[in-house]
Amino acid sequence: NQKQEEIIVSEKEVQQLQQCLPKANFIGSKILKYQGYWYHDNHLQNVLVFQRHFHAQDTDLIIGSLPKTGTTWLKSLLFAVVNRANYSANHHQNPLLENHPHELVYSLETDVYNKAFVYPRPHHLNELSSPRLLSTHLPYVSLPESIRTSGCRILYITRNPMDTLVSLYYFSMKVMKNYFSMDILKMILGMFYPTPTMQDFFEAFCEDRIPFGPFFDHAVGYWKACLEQPDKVLFLKYEELKDDPTVQLKRLAEFVGMPFTSQEESDGVIQQIIEMCSIKSMKKLEVNKSGVINKLFDKNSYFRKGEVGDWTHHFTPPMVEKMKRLMDEKLEGTGLSY
Ligand code: A3P
Repeated sequence: NQKQEEIIVSEKEVQQLQQCLPKANFIGSKILKYQGYWYHDNHLQNVLVFQRHFHAQDTDLIIGSLPKTGTTWLKSLLFAVVNRANYSANHHQNPLLENHPHELVYSLETDVYNKAFVYPRPHHLNELSSPRLLSTHLPYVSLPESIRTSGCRILYITRNPMDTLVSLYYFSMKVMKNYFSMDILKMILGMFYPTPTMQDFFEAFCEDRIPFGPFFDHAVGYWKACLEQPDKVLFLKYEELKDDPTVQLKRLAEFVGMPFTSQEESDGVIQQIIEMCSIKSMKKLEVNKSGVINKLFDKNSYFRKGEVGDWTHHFTPPMVEKMKRLMDEKLEGTGLSY
């Protein structure tokens, strides 16, 4: 029950951990290094509660990703594929037309086990129909034991680090603007904290201090898991999804055990799903235009440009050079490339 669940990770334990974990600064906020990865200070408890309470079911389908690598897109595609027998993509009552993708595929540490929502907890896992569609930004090594050992399946998405960084910059700036929306407060804070620049984000990335990062360790962790257990972990790339969504959607459907039939293919079902989940269509929906997720994040901030290569407009040649060197160094011998 809820009371017992809360006791397992006490405030005291969290405070003690917060004191002894390595600390760093990410664009004005404190982050802590736990099990080799960085988390916002106030997020640590959620991570612990998720690790200790979640029990995966063999039928669960869990999206793994770093923020800004295409999580929202993958949520909509997965939901559409899994629920296509009940709701075709052109069905006027398709839940994707009435709900933001984050409201249909809950994030485990951010929604389900968020300490801010314990009473009342908004999303009861037991009420979800099977297969449960869930997501997490945790690295593979930190996943609850039951995710790694049960029959549940993981769909990981990654993206070119430079585009991810550009996306993270715009998303974070938007969140900060909302957070400090009062003009006077903004003015006072502005005296102490100059507006972060892309260069600040870039340096944080290169120094391996971004929330849920280091970026490459995160991706390589899931990459290796996919090489070892291809039936357990599907590895997707944002760029490949953009380049050939049909092929990638077929891979996804097969992986979750719901391959498209030849009848569905000739009926254009794949194309309908791709079209419904395209950024152009998603952006137009009223439900994605206004309102917030988790009290802080504008629903529309999850849909920006949705393009490959936006980094070319933001990175200087020395930045690109540095990133390429970093990428070569971190990915050497892994077989993973961007
Ligand atoms: P940009 O900021 O580069 O536009 P996440 O969902 O992991 O937070 O990632 C957000 C990024 O995915 C944003 O990238 C966003 O625009 C893009 N995105 C969201 N929905 C998309 C879709 N349906 N198709 C392609 N990209 C999408």
